[in-house]
Amino acid sequence: MINIALPKGRLGDKVYKLFDDIGFSCPELEGDSRKLVFENEEKGVRYFLVKPSDVSIYVAHKAADIGVVGKDVLLETEPSVYELLDLGFGRCRLAVAAKNNWKDDTSLPLRVATKYVNVTQKYYAAQNRQIEIVKLNGSIELAPILGLSDVIVDIVETGTTLKENNLSVFYDIAPSSARLIANKSSYQFHKATIDSIVRELAKRRESPKERE
Ligand code: PRP
Repeated sequence: MINIALPKGRLGDKVYKLFDDIGFSCPELEGDSRKLVFENEEKGVRYFLVKPSDVSIYVAHKAADIGVVGKDVLLETEPSVYELLDLGFGRCRLAVAAKNNWKDDTSLPLRVATKYVNVTQKYYAAQNRQIEIVKLNGSIELAPILGLSDVIVDIVETGTTLKENNLSVFYDIAPSSARLIANKSSYQFHKATIDSIVRELAKRRESPKERE
């Protein structure tokens, strides 16, 4: 039995379709239900529905053998897991954004609003820039508008949220996309199964061109 942590929501639907496609179907999961655990004994698979940012926690603790998570979350949390495959979808970038007319005053510490505290600290430490972090959990774009911060560090996908709030990207930090991860000891134990999952998913990997 292979245990898979599926991110809830839009990303999860896409991830489940991929697993369904390579032989790990679970019809019960396709219905409308508030259940969080779904199993198909015949196919040897059990799915857990988890918050996207928690996938790597379940995998690192071996509650799940494998899972799919954004690279942005892996960069932020650095979990002790194997990153096996870039699935090519869920593409976005981690970036520094600010009001369109923002000018950096390097004589002052920079006030940065973000939920990516570790990524932000590393990024500015590498530049020897003193910062003050305002940790938020969502709607980060509000912070510079309300004067809570000078800039934000957040993910940008289409750029619509920034544009509609008169903000722009000033610096790119890192690209992100969905990654298949595995628990380290599960990988040794289920090596043949997990390797074949990687091979099959790699065939269905989305290249940037296919998305356009
Ligand atoms: C994310 C991110 C941005 C937005 C970027 O927010 O924090 O706000 O998506 O997407 P875009 O470039 O396509 O506009 P999310 O929807 O995850 O909600 P959040 O505000 O709770 O983080």
